Amino acid sequence: MVGFAQDFAAKELSGRHVLLGVSGGIAAYKAAALARELVKGGATVQVVLTPGATQFVGAATFAGLTGRPAHTGIFDEAHAIHHVRLAREADIAVFAPATANLIAKFAAGLADDLVSSTFTCLTCPVVVAPAMHTEMWSHTATQDNIATLARRGVLVVGPDEGELAGGDVGPGRLVDPATIVAAMAAALRPSRPLAGQRVVVTAGGTREPIDPVRYIGNRSSGKMGYALAAECSRRGARVELVSGPTWLPEPAGVSTHSVETALQMRDAVLELAVDADVVIKAAAVADFRPTVYHRQKIRKEHLELGSVELERNPDILAELGADRRRRQSEGAIPGPAPLLVGFAAETDLEEERGRDKLHRKGMDLIVVNRVDMADAGFNVDTNRALLLGADGLRAEVGLTTKAELAGVVCDQIEALLVQRQQS
Ligand code: PMT
Repeated sequence: MVGFAQDFAAKELSGRHVLLGVSGGIAAYKAAALARELVKGGATVQVVLTPGATQFVGAATFAGLTGRPAHTGIFDEAHAIHHVRLAREADIAVFAPATANLIAKFAAGLADDLVSSTFTCLTCPVVVAPAMHTEMWSHTATQDNIATLARRGVLVVGPDEGELAGGDVGPGRLVDPATIVAAMAAALRPSRPLAGQRVVVTAGGTREPIDPVRYIGNRSSGKMGYALAAECSRRGARVELVSGPTWLPEPAGVSTHSVETALQMRDAVLELAVDADVVIKAAAVADFRPTVYHRQKIRKEHLELGSVELERNPDILAELGADRRRRQSEGAIPGPAPLLVGFAAETDLEEERGRDKLHRKGMDLIVVNRVDMADAGFNVDTNRALLLGADGLRAEVGLTTKAELAGVVCDQIEALLVQRQQS
């Protein structure tokens, strides 16, 4: 996150009492930057450290940054119930970095040091930012523990994918301090319109098999859809993510359905959409599939150029739009039909084509994004978009991260949900 959005989020924490818990990982040094960011935004920051954290960053560093002693031991003060007082004082608590061990303690309710004891006393919003090696993050125990915390209302932010300790690369890196601050600001806002809503998000590209070796596919990485799923979950929605093949880690608190082909995606989406409040279709669905699937690998010498016959795939979004129109015209809606949000991959931000797709497929909102630039569209972390609404909305979003664009899209969805409740 850059520029004014970052300052804006930090200012939302102004005057708040923040408890910052730090555990023992190499990313502990980033907690110092986080403490500084929070203090700069006007928050009072009380740091508590696990014994492991002090191996990486000393209490004196945090004391210098926050102007308050950083506590490490449960008996640091004569005050007999040190941890209870620290928890009561907090308007919000953030644990960054949170190691696999700390997350396991939180999930199990263990209280054997100052940080875990304080956690068990908290009644304020809690944000947890995990950081660990990829193997530890992917371990079923860690994933179960994270799901337990998310279910109990803890806001889990990250981890990111990138360079880890020892030169390894993969998911497990602590998210930027600015992203943590934004998550904290979101956690403190009053209940959001997306909270408790059932949201179906599609992500990634579909693969249409020709034979056991080859398929027709596209360049979608899933990053845009996963950012949307994470953002909806962060806002309290119950998210069902229908994903084509991707290497991305499952966003915390989200239930993922893996599919491969457009037909499989259609089946999953239509089933999940029945009682959804919102459907967001960021997936790049193959428009065509081979008419015949060859069970045996086609030998090169038998594969003539131009010989793969294709047939059209169903348009899932158009089906959802048509179904909604039909149910509305029959007046037989068992509950309100879901809001429909689509994406359009275009080589320019052509408004007319975007509007045509919006109306033709019966969407409430379309996000037209560029796929002809190095910093937007497929398989990058940034994007450029034009949002068009059935209600006349027109908003251009210049170069930004996919996480931030997801925030803008969710803001718009929330505005539509509020309009719907009021009508
Ligand atoms: O995954 P990333 O690497 O992060 O890349 C993100 C993205 C570029 C794939 C994403 O931002 C995006 O633009 N997704 C939509 C791509 C697309 O299929 O656009 P379209 O104009 O062909 O389709 C319009 C809408 O109809 C889309 O919401 C699409 O999901 C939907 N559709 C399309 C075809 C089809 N058979 N069924 C559909 O539901």
